[in-house]
Amino acid sequence: MLKLDNIYLELVVEGRSIPILHDIELDFQAGKMYALTGPNGSGKSSIARVAMGIYQPTGGKVFLNGEDITAMGITERARMGIGYAFQQPPRFKGMRVVDMLELAMKHSDGLNCQVLRQIGLCPDDYLDRTLDNSLSGGEIKRIEIATLLAQNPKVRIFDEPEAGIDLWSFEQLIDVIGDSHREDTTTVIISHQEKILNMVDEIILIEEGTVSMRGNRDKIWPQIKESAQCSCRRSCRLEEELYADCPR
Ligand SMILES: Nc1ncnc2c1ncn2[C@@H]1O[C@H](COP(=O)(O)OP(=O)(O)OP(=O)(O)O)[C@@H](O)[C@H]1O
Ligand SMILES: [Mg+2]
Repeated sequence: MLKLDNIYLELVVEGRSIPILHDIELDFQAGKMYALTGPNGSGKSSIARVAMGIYQPTGGKVFLNGEDITAMGITERARMGIGYAFQQPPRFKGMRVVDMLELAMKHSDGLNCQVLRQIGLCPDDYLDRTLDNSLSGGEIKRIEIATLLAQNPKVRIFDEPEAGIDLWSFEQLIDVIGDSHREDTTTVIISHQEKILNMVDEIILIEEGTVSMRGNRDKIWPQIKESAQCSCRRSCRLEEELYADCPR
């Protein structure tokens, strides 16, 4: 369904080119659920951003059902059936929750605003609320997830859906994502949560900007524990070399 073929990503920050992703080979099949996991800063959200067209890769191509979509922007990709729920959702000032959901549902069939209820927000209380700072972090995150559920695209990418969601609602959230997964959809969940890693078909471990391992929980879990113990990543070692002559 979705394929990332030999993806490289470099971002220019303050005139300096920073390598973010390299040698990314990933294919996501229809009907399957995947988890992307790995240390903070390893490149998980950047992979999602490349898939969604927010970041243009420096090298490589993105394919959807065999079609090269590398040059397409976010809107076009959304229309083609890729949806992304941000790790830190933007707050579109002046837009109401109902406007956001209606926009999302434009290209989906048969869904309605009751999707809010599924993720634990009463529609009567929230539909007319404005997407601004008056909404709490957890509320805005839930609305973001509800929007992706309402959009119901063929490829759904949830970026740390558990972030900011209280423990009591977490199980419900997992159930909603699992229950809404269909035979013809691909669900990719970026997560650090063991419960999410347990529910997917395949776990993909991202380390230092690339895929270091993929497989089921039993294969990946020992590696996750090992990388959690390793505090000196490549970037740290580079820093050490860079600052080797500096007085401490
Ligand atoms: N726009 C940007 N400008 C500068 N650096 C960036 C930018 N986007 C990503 N990065 C850097 O790229 C690296 C990967 O970031 P990314 O957000 O993909 O990590 P992540 O694996 O999602 O981490 P986390 O688990 O903390 O969400 C980080 O070092 C980050 O600082
Ligand atoms: Mg991230």
